[in-house]
Amino acid sequence: MEKKIVLSGIRATGHLHLGNYYGALRNFVEMQQEYDCRYFIADYHSLTTQPEPELLNGNVRSILAEYLAAGLDPEKCMLYVQSDVPETCEIYTLLNMHAYLGELEKTVAFKEKARKQPNNVNAGLLTYPVLMAADILQHKAHFVPVGKDQLQHLEMARNFANRFNHYYGCQLLVPPYPYEAKGEPVKVPGLDGSGKMGKSEGNCIYLNDDDRTVEKKVKKAVTDMTPTEPCSPMSEPIANLFTLLRLVSDEATVTQFTDAWNDCSIRYGDLKREIAQGIIRVIAPMRERYESLYADTDYLNRVRRDGAERVRVEVRKTLDEMRHVMGIRFF
Ligand code: TRP
Repeated sequence: MEKKIVLSGIRATGHLHLGNYYGALRNFVEMQQEYDCRYFIADYHSLTTQPEPELLNGNVRSILAEYLAAGLDPEKCMLYVQSDVPETCEIYTLLNMHAYLGELEKTVAFKEKARKQPNNVNAGLLTYPVLMAADILQHKAHFVPVGKDQLQHLEMARNFANRFNHYYGCQLLVPPYPYEAKGEPVKVPGLDGSGKMGKSEGNCIYLNDDDRTVEKKVKKAVTDMTPTEPCSPMSEPIANLFTLLRLVSDEATVTQFTDAWNDCSIRYGDLKREIAQGIIRVIAPMRERYESLYADTDYLNRVRRDGAERVRVEVRKTLDEMRHVMGIRFF
């Protein structure tokens, strides 16, 4: 049976953190076996905020190295950089002719960005969902792993696909659906006592943090008073620390700390030391691979070139089919 196609994209802004790892990246490594997986770094989408060129280039490089360090295997999946595949831009142009100002202006992410950067409401920002649809539809991807904030964009990609098929009386484009990961979704809490780990929240452990940085960050994590009554309910900051412990430690250790909580003998210093050691066990091998990968310009460029080459063969077909039904062809 043909494997279903899964496409995942990430914008090139800053380093990946533990939340990215447990929330998505670790699944990607497993998905490689079961699906026809394609992963890319969306550097055009990063341009909507007009980043400093060297910074953008460095961000693409570090995410590529982080993906490889975490176990994405360019032999098993297609791994590429968006801007290395010019066909996407052509598909974007074609799709733009069926994307309406009204629907683009109504997009939640667009309205938010326009509010945040009122002096830079550029056309790229407005048509962001069309470019994203081009990313997806060119692959005829069945599934896209997305967070809640991207569901609307994915719905728009579905609309664009259906609209195109309907308008031209064909079944050419495949409407994409959210990829549902198996089991409970993993939410990695932040170190600030509430919510989830996120770059904009500034409560992250990055995959390339060194051991001392991890220890320092975990040491500073928010706690409160130790319990005085046996089996007290846990406050959010403490429950968050236990969530982290469960992610990075073994069952016996978790039981040991749970018992210590229940009989009020717990010491947060010990708990934090255990969490820090657990995190270090998870990320240190990735960091080491990351460092040598990041420095290996030839290898990274080779991965980019090979990835783009394979993707271009696939998406060229979609582009040619689209052009054909639209009447863009030789006589
Ligand atoms: N908009 C996505 C984000 O900000 C990134 C992205 C761009 C994407 N194109 C995509 C994700 C295609 C999945 C598929 O997270």
